[in-house]
Amino acid sequence: MPEVYLNGEFLPLEEARVSVMDRGFLFGDGVYEVIPAYGGRPFRLAQHLDRLDYSLAAIRMDNPLPREEWRWILERLTGAAPGVDRMIYLQVTRGADAKRHHLFPLSAEPTRFVMAWDAKPRDPAIEAQGIAAVTLEDFRWLRCDIKSIALLGNVLLRQAAEDAGAEESILIRDGCATEGSSTNLFLVRAGELATPPKGHLLLPGITRDLVLELAREAGIPCREREVRAEELAAADEIWISSSSREVEPVTRLDGEPVGDGVPGPQWRRMDALFQDYKGRLRAGHA
Ligand code: PDD
Repeated sequence: MPEVYLNGEFLPLEEARVSVMDRGFLFGDGVYEVIPAYGGRPFRLAQHLDRLDYSLAAIRMDNPLPREEWRWILERLTGAAPGVDRMIYLQVTRGADAKRHHLFPLSAEPTRFVMAWDAKPRDPAIEAQGIAAVTLEDFRWLRCDIKSIALLGNVLLRQAAEDAGAEESILIRDGCATEGSSTNLFLVRAGELATPPKGHLLLPGITRDLVLELAREAGIPCREREVRAEELAAADEIWISSSSREVEPVTRLDGEPVGDGVPGPQWRRMDALFQDYKGRLRAGHA
């Protein structure tokens, strides 16, 4: 039975309970993080905890725990397995109130929850063939920069992709691509890597930042700029990125091949750089 952390206690998942009055349950009033730990070492932990602070500030909450305590909890849930890659899920909600009321409760203890599981091994089919994606209208709210647990828009858009036989949706707002339903977006055209700029319309992905950093270090030209929807059809390569999916090549978009319809050379290069970074992290050198 996996062990989880809930409000100061470590306990088996099956025994972890929160109140039905929790504002996370009633309003989706909370924020979260998903953090990989490679060989027991959390990936870009400072950046993930910075983003947690950013999300909490945006919903007008203080961080209920000091950084050292988050680190310690995460270590306890991942450190037991240094040879294994784990995924950590961390959530903070505004807590449980006595009655259902939209206004912030005057005194509620924030709910703190962390769980971890073994990361999925890399799928050789993705490396060989890439994934299919569909473009869909981005009908989410205007604060997609907050890592909110209220993910109904993202859930509907991810399911719509699945129903269309695709593994991700690429979202279009006002003629521009923003991101995927749970991933960031990259496009390669004429040797240049492009990704939509940070702002209120997309999540500032930690994996996205690393991809840009690795590209810059390797001398790959890259720009954070608006990506027009029509550019997608003309792209040589399209990639998506996230903590759980790393960097995946999109080889079919809306039923048409992207570029040559196979994972492209720039993706292979970035994937090698990314895997190398993970290796360095596991060895304690990143
Ligand atoms: N999703 N955009 C959205 C909407 C996301 O939900 C995510 C992450 C990303 C990528 O961010 P990062 O590289 O920091 O994981 C972009 C997580 C993994 C999830 O909800 O499971």
